Amino acid sequence: MSRRVFVVVLDGLGIGPCPDQDRYGDGGSDTLANTLARSPADFSLPNLAALGLGCCSALPRVPAVGAPRAAVGTALPRSEGKDSTTGHWEMTGLLLEKPFPTFPDGFPPDLIEAFAARTGRGVLGNRAASGTAILDELGDQHRATGKWIVYTSADSVFQVAAHEEVVPIAELYRACEIARELCVGPVGVSRVIARPFVGISGKWVRTGGRKDYSLAPIGETLLDRLATAGIPRVGIGKVDDLFAGRGIESRHAPTNRLAYQLLTEALERVESGFVFANVIEFDQTWGHRNDVAGFLGGLEELDRTLPDLLGRVQADDLVIFTADHGNDPTTPSTDHSRERVPVLVVGPKVRPAALGERATFADVGQTVAEFLGTGPLAAGKSFLREVWITDPVEQAAWAVRERAYAPYSGFRVGAAVTDESGAIFAGCNVENASYGLTICAERSAVVQAVAAGVRRLDRVIVVTGTEPPAAPCGACRQVLREFGPDLVIDLVGPQSRKQWRMRDLLPDAFGPEWLP
Ligand code: THU
Repeated sequence: MSRRVFVVVLDGLGIGPCPDQDRYGDGGSDTLANTLARSPADFSLPNLAALGLGCCSALPRVPAVGAPRAAVGTALPRSEGKDSTTGHWEMTGLLLEKPFPTFPDGFPPDLIEAFAARTGRGVLGNRAASGTAILDELGDQHRATGKWIVYTSADSVFQVAAHEEVVPIAELYRACEIARELCVGPVGVSRVIARPFVGISGKWVRTGGRKDYSLAPIGETLLDRLATAGIPRVGIGKVDDLFAGRGIESRHAPTNRLAYQLLTEALERVESGFVFANVIEFDQTWGHRNDVAGFLGGLEELDRTLPDLLGRVQADDLVIFTADHGNDPTTPSTDHSRERVPVLVVGPKVRPAALGERATFADVGQTVAEFLGTGPLAAGKSFLREVWITDPVEQAAWAVRERAYAPYSGFRVGAAVTDESGAIFAGCNVENASYGLTICAERSAVVQAVAAGVRRLDRVIVVTGTEPPAAPCGACRQVLREFGPDLVIDLVGPQSRKQWRMRDLLPDAFGPEWLP
């Protein structure tokens, strides 16, 4: 059996308030709900709704369905910080006690001195500034002296600008590597960024030679664990950058469409292990630009893509959709927002459990670690036991429920029965336009068993996807009784289970013994 896990991070797709939101100045940010509230009245996301997106949190236009296909919940951010790196590290089990440091008043003198000494060039600037403004200000001086232009922003970045004719680009990159070595511990900025430029005084132009040097994870991550255990890892999107390439290589996907394409390929080709995908545009293209219409279009695109993606999921796959932070396009802020995130877990062997509000994103990584057998991570509580069905009879019941034909009631039922040898027979409900001729799941399963020669049932499991699970109808009780007067019937719901003895379900039953 080859286990595969797909963690799909919908970048910036927060799902509302968390207790420390105000401390981040993000009170009122609720990326999904606020964005959906601005959608036209006929806007819908049928596939995401069926999965259970509306069960994570109350959302406009996305109803909370009674029997979601996915296990659904939300997760709170536990680390300090609301950037992509922090969010992704957290979901791989690495919590940050302190946010990445920012330097609004410039970097400490000893860091600048060490940088100048090791690179052999002096430093200009050393303050927070816009990239183009600082070139206008210091470009001439840089040309005249050959000193680096070092600057930062509101983010945790150490940026080094140099004119390509003054400093060969290889030297700039080498200097950034040195800066990366120096920027650790208390000055461990999230990224060092090389900013080469060309042009003439007053007309400086930044080139495409920008290069980012991320801070390597400051502790062990799920990716390290998997690497040590020799479990294959495949990255999609910017995940390699977020981990400074440690434990993962990745194909970059600047658009969601490309990310979905790469995900489709991975679903087709990857044989086992961990696929870690970042879907960037909710954050980069729409969230940061406050583009509500674009964001809504992106949600529709995701919804359209889901059936094809999920159609490629294999028997032992675990697929988790989640996010790394919020980025509400409806608020004046164009920055990330501190929010909780959705957690949707799907797969043929996934029970659609209610996962509640998880205390940390790390629960996702801990679940993956347990599933792939690498031993527990430093943080997070696994929800594997809640979602992963290990009983093959129950698996058969949930799997066949997916194939229920219930367009009239929308109430899907799966049933699985076994004989003494343990052979499993599964059936789903089959409706038709003449409602009364509907066949229930239990009777479908019995018919399968009898057609295979079975005359006595051993176990029955019925799943209706509802909580609490519904009991068999009167007709099914009578039919089941025929093949097992002492049957025990398991009714399994997303959260709870209940056992019935046939004698209690159908006391004083009519049976063959009454016939003369
Ligand atoms: N249904 C079953 O499959 N089993 C039962 O025991 C109760 C009801 C189906 C029949 C119909 O398709 C839908 O549930 C709603 O009644």
